This record gives sequence, structure tokens and C-alpha cells, in this order.
Amino acid sequence: MAGIPTTLKGRSFTRISSWSPDELRAVLDLADELKAERARRRELRVLPGRTIGLIFHKPSTRTRVAFEVGIAELGGMALFLPASELQLARGESYRDTAIVLSRLLSALMIRTFDQDEVEEFAEHASIPVINGLTDTAHPLQALADAMTLRERFGSLAGLRLAYVGDGNNVCHSLLRMGARFGMHVVVATPPGYEPDAHVVEGATRDAAASGGSVALVQDPREAVVGAHAVYTDVWASMGQEGERERRLRDLAPYRVDDALLALADRDAVAMHCLPAHVGEEITAEVLYGPRCLAWEQAENRLHTQKALMALVIR
Ligand code: CP
Ligand code: NVA
Repeated sequence: MAGIPTTLKGRSFTRISSWSPDELRAVLDLADELKAERARRRELRVLPGRTIGLIFHKPSTRTRVAFEVGIAELGGMALFLPASELQLARGESYRDTAIVLSRLLSALMIRTFDQDEVEEFAEHASIPVINGLTDTAHPLQALADAMTLRERFGSLAGLRLAYVGDGNNVCHSLLRMGARFGMHVVVATPPGYEPDAHVVEGATRDAAASGGSVALVQDPREAVVGAHAVYTDVWASMGQEGERERRLRDLAPYRVDDALLALADRDAVAMHCLPAHVGEEITAEVLYGPRCLAWEQAENRLHTQKALMALVIR
């Protein structure tokens, strides 16, 4: 494979909107190559002697395992840092933690609640800081989703994606990613569950430049007509457990089932970032059916996270 570009060394990845379409494309292109190399059982040990810290304030299966496996495959070492075990839990500031960890690590991933905490980390760290999910963004997921869509459809521009359900963190990053790549993204939510207005505004601006579009509707059937991909996510995200009953009630008409999928394009795929609550936002028929790309999305977390690390870590 060709050499790894050096232009992104040192960069943090806290949100999709701070990376240009070309920069995002560089991650996707390298991820494709790394996937092919891995299939040939070829190793690319570009992170020898590097230690990457992984701070988790919330549970994780895919993000954590994809990082730990990916770092090992690149020849580095992963350090799992549950937030409850750090001095952060006893009030040490993000600023001080970022300065100290920058002296010890080569990069840092953080999964937390408030996006501002990730931004504060990135501001004070002298190493790349990667957002592993916040209440308002999940940019790593959007990278894997873009890779998965590109694999299936060849390119992203012009693709129609319907996101159905809760206008949450996954929806936000998907909107920003889709808009940057000229996709037509329609989001269907009940009133009160729409994605944040500033995310929609930013995505709308990007879509105007890329030839894509962004639309919000309430009727899930209207959203999926002509869609190439129908995407959903849980109705109660991590941290929203107390609102679960209300959310289940309000979002019940937004379940992705075979009947809804039948209204989409003939070759439409179903997508889910996982973990899924089967029988809530997605039926078993769809999740385990032949049109579902959720398992591919999960695998592509590995390839995209490896590509990102290989590009940003010095
Ligand atoms: N999709 C995703 O981020 O999964 P985990 O919560 O298991 O990391
Ligand atoms: N919206 C979900 C995504 C989990 C990967 C959550 O934040 O819990």
C-alpha cells in the first residue's frame, strides 16, 4: 500500500465539522486499504512504542474493543482508563488531566457526557484527542457508517439516507457527515425529538456546498420513500434511562420494520450503530435480515479507528 499521509499528524478529532471533506476522505481511503491488508493478514505496525489512553465515562463494547484491537494491530499499546478510577472522579480538572496525560501518552480517546469536556481536553492537550461519543456527537460512528455506505454503494454523493427515531448524538454526526459528502439526509422524529437546531443549520450549510440536502419531517414513511439507507438508533441513549418510559411511548411509531423498509428504494439497506434494543427501534426481522448492514458497520469501526490513529498520531 502507499505511504500514510503526514498532513493530519497531531490533529484532534472531536467533531465532524472541524474536518474538511478531503480530510475525512483520507480516513475512509486509508480504512479501505487497512481492511484489505488485514484480510491478507498483513501487518502495518505504524505505532510502535506509542501508548493510547482510552477514558470511558460510559460503557462500550465496539468503541473500546475496536480501539484495543486496532492499537495492538498497529503495534502500539492501549491503556483502558475507566473514568471512575481516575482523579477526574475526585475533582481533578480536565485541563490538568490533559496536560499530564500529554506528557505520558501519544493520543487520548474520551467517551463522556458533555461535548465541552472533550473540547476542553483537546484545547489543553498537546496530543491528538479523539471523541469516543458524547451526549451530542458520535463522530467515530459516522466515519464507520460512511465507510460502510461507500463499500455498499460505491460513493456517497447523491445517496438518500433516512434517519428514523431520536435526533440524538448518532443522528447529529451522521447529518454532518452526510452533508459534507453530498448526501440527501432526511430525519424523521416526533415533535420534541428533533436534532439540535445548530447541527441542522451547519449541515444545511454544508449540504448547500456539497450538492446534498437536509430535511426534517415527522412522518417516518415520508422520510424513507426513495431512501437507499434507513438508519435508526436506540430511543433512550446512555444517560437518559430516567426518560425511558416516555421515550418508548413517544417513539413507538418510529420502529424500523419490514413494512417501513418496503417503502424505501428496492435495494435499500437498514443501518444501526448498535447496541440495538430489538423490538423497540428495530425489529428482529430487519436487524437479522439480509438488508441489514449493522454488523458491517460494527466491523468498520475497527478499520476507521485504525486509519484515524495512523493519520493523526505522531
Ligand atoms: N456503536 C458504539 O459506539 O458502540 P459501543 O457503545 O459498544 O462502543
Ligand atoms: N445513542 C446511543 C449510541 C450508543 C453507541 C447512546 O448514546 O447511548
